[in-house]
Amino acid sequence: MKVTAIHSKPLGSTHAVAGMLLGEIKKSSPDAEVREFVVAGFKPCAGCFSCFSKGEEHCPHYGDVHPIITAIEESDVVILDCPTYCLGISGAMKSFLDHLGYRWFAHRPHPSMKHKIGVAISTTGTLGAKAVTKALKSQFFGLTAAKCYRLSFSVAGFDWNDVKDNKKRKIARAVQKTARKVAAGSGRANRSLYLRFILRAMRIVQSKNDWFPLDKAWWQKQGWIGT
Ligand SMILES: Cc1cc2nc3c(=O)[nH]c(=O)nc-3n(C[C@H](O)[C@H](O)[C@H](O)COP(=O)(O)O)c2cc1C
Repeated sequence: MKVTAIHSKPLGSTHAVAGMLLGEIKKSSPDAEVREFVVAGFKPCAGCFSCFSKGEEHCPHYGDVHPIITAIEESDVVILDCPTYCLGISGAMKSFLDHLGYRWFAHRPHPSMKHKIGVAISTTGTLGAKAVTKALKSQFFGLTAAKCYRLSFSVAGFDWNDVKDNKKRKIARAVQKTARKVAAGSGRANRSLYLRFILRAMRIVQSKNDWFPLDKAWWQKQGWIGT
């Protein structure tokens, strides 16, 4: 099993929960290969539309995006972990995720997403972690991943060291459960009927696409629409 973990920060409670999950995945699949990235300081999307119109290699931040998107495509499981900031996802994580727009279902979704499992993780002081994992789940949906598990926790602390032991034990149990599901479903997860319906509808849209010819050519190249 190949796993890519994309952390909003290199430390903190959310990173610690992601670390727990990686540890549990390694326990159930000792040969799991893990690649990790930190997107703190990621430059915001320039909004130049180059990825859509000319190709992702024309993105001004291609050098930063390319290794991560390649790791995502090569993985069975992708973890996105992000603290809750002002009831939403961190600016750093959003800055990174905006660069993946060209891989959304309306553009050039990658065939490797078909059986991919996502895991969305967030911690919050009190409120908002569920909204963050819901937002991260939408990103996995847009990228056409098969499945997304969510781990959202209120930790009542500024730092992982502040988090009470009973809370850590509760988190550990939820993480173990998710790790088991991830290990069992790796390479086998299937997309929801709703996502399959959207992808089918996109075939009609793409066959008429004269606004982003690169997208249409991609769908033709994959054999999803006729030439
Ligand atoms: C800029 C900022 C905004 C925050 N916003 C919220 C919030 O809206 N709700 C909340 O309960 N906690 C909020 N917190 C607290 C964090 O969500 C909480 O401490 C979280 O566990 C931090 O995760 P980390 O250790 O991975 O950074 C905020 C913290 C920061 C730094």
